[in-house]
Amino acid sequence: MKGIVAAFFVLLIAAGCAGMDMRMHRVGSSAPADDRTELKIPDEMKLMQKKMMRAHLATIGRIVEALSEDDLEEAGEIARKNLGWNPEEERRCAKVAAMSGEKDFFALGRAMHEKADEFVAYTTDWDKPGSLKALSELIGTCNACHRRFRH
Ligand code: HEC
Repeated sequence: MKGIVAAFFVLLIAAGCAGMDMRMHRVGSSAPADDRTELKIPDEMKLMQKKMMRAHLATIGRIVEALSEDDLEEAGEIARKNLGWNPEEERRCAKVAAMSGEKDFFALGRAMHEKADEFVAYTTDWDKPGSLKALSELIGTCNACHRRFRH
C-alpha cells in the first residue's frame, strides 16, 4: 500500500512539475527544449485525447481505492472495462498512429492496455501483491508513452 501511495505522489508531483516547466518555457528561453516527438494530429483530436487521458488517471485512482478496500474484484472490473485491450481500443490507437504516422504510438498504447489485462488476471487470482506490482508496471506503461510523445 505504501508503495502505491508513494507512486501516486510521484505521479502528482510529476504532473505539477510538468505544469511549472511549461510556464517557465513561456517566460524564459534558457529552459531546455522538450525533445519528445510531437504527435501531429488535429487540435480537436488532441483535446479528445487529453480528455481520455484524464479519464485514464481517474481510472487509476478508482483502482487504487478499490485495492485499498481489498476489493480486488471491483479493481479488476474497473481496469477491464476502462483500460483493457479490445477492438474498440485497437481501432482508437490505430487511428492515432495512422493519422500521426507514428507506429510507436500503437505499440505503446497496446502495451498499456495489455498490461491492464495482466493486472486483471492478478485480481482474478485474488493475488494482491501481484496486482499491486502489475498496477505499478501499468503506470510505468503510461509513463513510457509520455516520455516518447507530446502534443
Ligand atoms: C500511447 C501513448 C500514451 C499512453 C499509453 C498514455 N498516454 Fe497519457 N498522454 C499521451 C499524450 C500524447 C498526452 C499529451 C501530452 C501533451 O499534452 O503534450 C498525454 C497526456 C496525459 C495526461 C494530461 C492530460 C491533460 O489534460 O493535459 C494525463 C493525466 C495522462 N496522459 C494520463 C495517462 C495515464 C494515467 C495513462 C495510463 C493508464 C496514460 N496517460 C497512458 C499519451 C499516452
